Amino acid sequence: MKLSLLLLATVTRVAIAAMDPIVIKGTKFYYSNNQTQFFLRGVAYQYSQTEDPLADATACKRDIPIMQELRTNVIRTYYINATADHSECMKLLEEAGIYVVSDLSSTSEAINRDDPEWNVALYDRYTAVIDELSQYNNTIGFFAGNEIANSVTTTDGMAYAKAAVRDMKKYIKEMGYRSMGVGYATADVSAIRTDLANYLDCEAEDEIVDFFGYNIYSWCGDSTYAESGYKVRTEEFANYTVPVFFAEYGCNTVSPVPSLRSRPSTVTT
Ligand SMILES: *[C@@H]1O[C@H](CO)[C@@H](O)[C@H](O)[C@H]1NC(C)=O
Ligand SMILES: *[C@@H]1O[C@H](CO)[C@@H](O)[C@H](O)[C@H]1NC(C)=O
Ligand SMILES: *[C@@H]1O[C@H](CO)[C@@H](O)[C@H](O)[C@H]1NC(C)=O
Ligand SMILES: *[C@@H]1O[C@H](CO)[C@@H](O)[C@H](O)[C@H]1NC(C)=O
Repeated sequence: MKLSLLLLATVTRVAIAAMDPIVIKGTKFYYSNNQTQFFLRGVAYQYSQTEDPLADATACKRDIPIMQELRTNVIRTYYINATADHSECMKLLEEAGIYVVSDLSSTSEAINRDDPEWNVALYDRYTAVIDELSQYNNTIGFFAGNEIANSVTTTDGMAYAKAAVRDMKKYIKEMGYRSMGVGYATADVSAIRTDLANYLDCEAEDEIVDFFGYNIYSWCGDSTYAESGYKVRTEEFANYTVPVFFAEYGCNTVSPVPSLRSRPSTVTT
């Protein structure tokens, strides 16, 4: 009994000390302390468009153990209130070994695909989120835009997204914050997917995304890596110069989702 308690204490201490920052080198993420590659096992965590999921400690206490059951090691949040207190949720996430990638926009303050701008109000909003989350070692980075272009006629917005990426990378450097990535999360639109990805990964290092997030919903029903299109989509990034990962994934056409039906009851409660 004594031995197992001791072991538990050791494991806990290691888990907390292990929460060192993630860094990006080339096309991969690494733990900063030992250069071991970090593989993202992520969940999108946002239950409404206007409520900050990391400011609600009651919800975090309820949900983080479920994320642990899924072996999640990173969550994506879409809306953070930059002036709210995130210390409790961030601490709980840290204790669970979970990192965060957050969007910088909010529902009302975002680059609007129908009338795109990159302006001072958005700059202030974005930098406020960075200021807030930079305090926490388990922040990996940020999305400067999400699905801004979703058709051939909405690609103008990508110039503004790219400006936002450039300015936020510069801001993080100027503020002397530790290294955190600034990326973009794309919709999966066949007519624009290749050009859009290449546009965000060309020109100088301080102008391009630090990582590229792919929102992809082609794995429907009882599919496979190849059949779903994931294989081909992945291979298209063979020469990409920064990390690429699925920033949303699954299926949004089939209902109910098979994996939900067979989910253990402990997860559904
Ligand atoms: C590197 O560090 C991480 C966390 O700090 C740990 O999970 C991993 O096992 C370490 N890798 C090696 C090879 O020690
Ligand atoms: C964050 O990580 C750095 C580098 O590993 C470490 O020196 C620092 O103590 C950590 N800060 C916190 C609050 O854990
Ligand atoms: C953001 O958080 C602050 C501090 O808790 C609060 O006063 C403010 O109302 C919140 N804003 C929104 C839009 O929820
Ligand atoms: C990657 O680069 C090689 C060498 O230039 C080229 O042959 C190949 O077609 C490229 N692959 C993709 C997916 O762009």
